Amino acid sequence: MAEMDEGSGIERHLTSYGDREFSKYMRRAFLASAGFDRQDLQRPIVGIVDTSSDYNTCHRQMPEMVQAVKRGVLEAGGLPLAFPTISLHEILTAPTTMLFRNLEAMDTEEMIRAQPMDAVVLLGGCDKTVPAQLMGAISAGIPFVSVVAGPMLTGSWRGQRLGACTDCRRLWAQYRAGEISHEEIREIEQALCATGGTCMVMGTASTMAAVTEALGLMVPGGAAPPHATGERLIRCVESGRCAVDLARNNRLPSQILSRKSFENAITVLAALGGSTNVIVHLLALARRASIELSLDDFDRIAAKTPLLVDCKPAGCGYMEDLHKAGGLPVLMKELESRLHLDALTVTGKTLGALLEEVERAGKWQTTIRTLAEPLGPVASLAVLHGSLCPDGAVIKAAAATPELMKHRGPALVFESPEDAQRIDDPALGITPDHVLILRNSGPVGAGMPEAGSLPIPKYLSAQGVRDIVRVSDARMSGTAYGTVCLHCSPEAAVGGPLALVQNGDMIELNVEERRLDLLVDPAELEARRLQWSPPPTAPRGWLKLHAEHVLQAHLGADLDFL
Ligand code: FES
Repeated sequence: MAEMDEGSGIERHLTSYGDREFSKYMRRAFLASAGFDRQDLQRPIVGIVDTSSDYNTCHRQMPEMVQAVKRGVLEAGGLPLAFPTISLHEILTAPTTMLFRNLEAMDTEEMIRAQPMDAVVLLGGCDKTVPAQLMGAISAGIPFVSVVAGPMLTGSWRGQRLGACTDCRRLWAQYRAGEISHEEIREIEQALCATGGTCMVMGTASTMAAVTEALGLMVPGGAAPPHATGERLIRCVESGRCAVDLARNNRLPSQILSRKSFENAITVLAALGGSTNVIVHLLALARRASIELSLDDFDRIAAKTPLLVDCKPAGCGYMEDLHKAGGLPVLMKELESRLHLDALTVTGKTLGALLEEVERAGKWQTTIRTLAEPLGPVASLAVLHGSLCPDGAVIKAAAATPELMKHRGPALVFESPEDAQRIDDPALGITPDHVLILRNSGPVGAGMPEAGSLPIPKYLSAQGVRDIVRVSDARMSGTAYGTVCLHCSPEAAVGGPLALVQNGDMIELNVEERRLDLLVDPAELEARRLQWSPPPTAPRGWLKLHAEHVLQAHLGADLDFL
């Protein structure tokens, strides 16, 4: 059992040798090899979680960001010590980063706990890195501030402004429909991601950055500055200074996070028309912080919050437009009457005090709209219940086709994302009326990949069909769009109703009434249940541990023992 030390600075969390003074002496000796003397070691120590990786293009300039954070820490009288953790990139990680979010959270928590530091700066950005870091740091329970890589700048192709990944998907759909040639799609793939940084539409990374600022866990204006800008580095320097202040005042996450701060985050999520993935992440964060939060809180708050931000996929703009319009401080100024202004932030000030210094959205811009003249109606996100999802499902209504939000159609079932590879087979006879079902893609079944927005079959897209109702226990990318019902809970792999659907069963979606139903006689479903057996799970390693302990989506898909 390790010796416990409640000291501060370099004497915190001493290595266990059975002699505490020896442990301190050894620590000082080894740090001297890195050029630190006793005067250095008297300063508050700020750990910096560095998720630079050649496999993470979204974090390409993170080494420069680490240096900027270090400068801020030194300016404020602290001692910065950076350390690496797992880094997850959406596109370069198989089968899905979600399978490793909780692993990164454990890595972050345990390394914060195991090493001496009085506060920590979390440098993340690409989708799962931010929720993973927040989950780990909340559980570690020391003061922290979050910094994100910031979005990419937009690219351009033949006069079209392009952004990852809504335009990636839109143009790929056109390529599949035969409207774009092989040569053109090759040019496009070189133009989609113009700089380092995270996807620059209101996908998961952008939404997660925004709700982190709304939670009070980031310096003001920290969410939106693009990766490539000096302003991104300025936010890094400020965050370094902020971390020293957090350490000196021992301002703990438990003092900042409250039910009020989570409600603020949900209001911002709804006003952004943000990613449905963030619902799962916020549920997991609330659980880590021991704050009661349920899917119904999202529906209740979204139902009274209009869409205010014009960003793809719910709108037309990009993150750099939101940044130029004033970013999150100006958006929250517009939402001021809907927010809990007494919620505390990492700065030590309340959200209300911060917003007193912010001007309302300028009339010179069109990205941040007002409550009086919103971009879209309320309920950009909706939570569904019904016989197909007794514990809930979600839909991004702002990115769905209005005519399909009330729809009844026959099911066509795919057993897994791999099985869905046959979607282009004309023998399946898929029509625009069908409801495509994808199962065994939930947290236990497959680690919950972003496979829920199944492609429209080629032969239908060639006829101009752009959307079909899709239902799954998977997630979808925040950059995707369509009438896609996600996160069906309980999932098929644990025997949820999705497991019992057969081809031709009638499915009814009614978003206005928040219903998603399988119109099959309960006695017939019971007979099918007797025939059902769970799919096999991984035999060893992390995948086995994950499958045995991961919670359902409506509980945040965290591990049950964390
Ligand atoms: Fe990193 Fe989109 S791939 S944010």
